Amino acid sequence: MLWSLLLLFALTLLLPLIPYAVAYVNPDAGGVPNPGSELWREVRHANVGTTQVQGVDSGVLISEYGERWRQYRMQQLAPWGAMVLGAMVGIFIVYYLVRGKIRIEDGRSGKRVRRYTTTEMTVHWILASTFVLLALSGLILLYGRWLLIPLLGASGFSVTATVCKLLHNYVGLLFAAIVPIAFFLYLKDSLFNLKVDGRWFMRAGGYFGGEEPSSEKVNAGQKMWYWVAMLGGFVLITSGLLLDFTNLFQQGREWLMGAHVVHTIASIGVIAFFIVHLYLATVGVEGALESMVNGHVDANWARQHHDLWYQELQAGQDSTVPKEGLKAGGTHAGGVASPLVKD
Ligand code: HEM
Repeated sequence: MLWSLLLLFALTLLLPLIPYAVAYVNPDAGGVPNPGSELWREVRHANVGTTQVQGVDSGVLISEYGERWRQYRMQQLAPWGAMVLGAMVGIFIVYYLVRGKIRIEDGRSGKRVRRYTTTEMTVHWILASTFVLLALSGLILLYGRWLLIPLLGASGFSVTATVCKLLHNYVGLLFAAIVPIAFFLYLKDSLFNLKVDGRWFMRAGGYFGGEEPSSEKVNAGQKMWYWVAMLGGFVLITSGLLLDFTNLFQQGREWLMGAHVVHTIASIGVIAFFIVHLYLATVGVEGALESMVNGHVDANWARQHHDLWYQELQAGQDSTVPKEGLKAGGTHAGGVASPLVKD
């Protein structure tokens, strides 16, 4: 009797191991169905379960796309974005080391011509500062866990991420307001002229050797930046507003995940072009930054980089524009220029 009871007890203990034994002997059998996992599989496919809650996606208890989107963000978007931006920075460091700063060939003439109005400068700097704040806070939200947690610790990063998220949400609204204004303000000068701009593109703007091709007030590369920034800006604003106001159009989670992917890809693209703009406007081209800081450029700079625009100025009524050709003033970087000489 005692031995029989002990045997029965031992068998009872072994019973739960039977599925493992079956799976071991026949791994392709698919295992023994588990009623619990069957239930959750059905819930995931929204085949069972009801809810009283009204609203878009309210019946979705488990979002399959959520996990796929999370993996895509962590394993594709973030690493590819980092590679693109890293490559851009690397290319310009190498370019600077090889080519150096593009100088005003004849030096400064000492005569300055008007390039941008106060309105154009004000709008530009609002656009630029909102863009830079959004780019930095967005990149921290995307890459902070890798870059900042080792430096700030998890709780330190959590504060930084919260601040960046709030900043991103509110500055985004300002950016949304300034982009349409910038779009109309710079539109006229940014329309492509097939003949002039086509030739400029064919010669890659003279950045890799050869003579600098002719250009209007805004060259073909700058026009391209305008279109990338404005169209990219509209994509970022639309996708960003969908993410800010999650119930704006009663869009479901799939829409939000799509908007997030579009938002991230567009931001990496526009920031990559922004690196080009930032480089050329600051360290790349001597005298360029002055145009957006005080509205004027040196006449020799205008003649060298935007010859067709400069000829238009010379033909115009503005008496401050030198009518003669300008040449070697002899100084760089804002020094005192020697008197003008004729071509
Ligand atoms: C802090 C960063 C920035 C700096 C230092 C900067 C500098 C400049 C400079 C110097 C110019 C005049 C170029 C010339 O006279 O030929 C310019 C023009 C312009 N910038 Fe920026 N910029 C910055 C950010 C931005 C951003 C973020 C945008 C757009 C989202 C932008 C859009 C434009 C446009 C549309 C023009 C007029 C077209 C052109 O001349 O290229 N800039 N910028």
